[in-house]
Amino acid sequence: MIPGRVRIAIAIDGPASSGKGTVARFVAARLGYSYVDTGALYRGVGLALMRAGMDPTDAEAATEMASKLAFRFEWREGSLRVAVNGVDESEAIRGEAVGRAASAVAVHPGVRSALLQTQRDLGARGGVVMDGRDIGTVVLPNAQLKVYLDASLDERARRRHAEAPGVALEEVRRQLAARDQQDSGRATAPLKLAEDAEYVDTTGRSVEEVVQQVIALARERGA
Ligand code: CDP
Repeated sequence: MIPGRVRIAIAIDGPASSGKGTVARFVAARLGYSYVDTGALYRGVGLALMRAGMDPTDAEAATEMASKLAFRFEWREGSLRVAVNGVDESEAIRGEAVGRAASAVAVHPGVRSALLQTQRDLGARGGVVMDGRDIGTVVLPNAQLKVYLDASLDERARRRHAEAPGVALEEVRRQLAARDQQDSGRATAPLKLAEDAEYVDTTGRSVEEVVQQVIALARERGA
């Protein structure tokens, strides 16, 4: 660590495909911070329910599942690995169906509170970049830097389509719009701009430009 600098907590929130994960990973790497992908927790719960043949909209089943899963994040050869109950599920949690299940389980207040302490523990010592939907508003309300990353629906659909070209662009756009509505419209910890967050629109901008902007904001706050 450079003398005189502090290891701050950086919260990055925003809708699906706004670039959160990519930006958060680069910012963390350049600052020598750890990166925590909180979406992986909701995805882990969604995946476990799917495998058990249970319905992610069932609040009781989802809450019970969330409270019995243990998560571990680990860096291996430059990529973030996520273990759920000791089993590496890094690839399995990435699918679009798991994303939808994650968004469905994320609606339940019981699931959110079961996952809250894990997230706070991961952020407690600073030197962390954490991304999600409610990091600046609920999980780390005292984060020294809060960023809300956004991009137009069309641009986010194009990005997601480029990552997984198997699904028609129009269908990707429709799925994203539905997820936006579910994430922003829910009663508990909806996706919204924290009062003290920096709003960053990534539409038409390169990852590098956005990473530099976030690092500059972090430097202003002592990182
Ligand atoms: O990568 P993408 O934005 O598609 O998804 P993600 O960040 O992995 O999150 C998957 C789902 O988990 C989201 O649609 C949210 O409903 C939920 N989530 C949440 O509610 N709160 C968080 N802090 C992180 C994710």
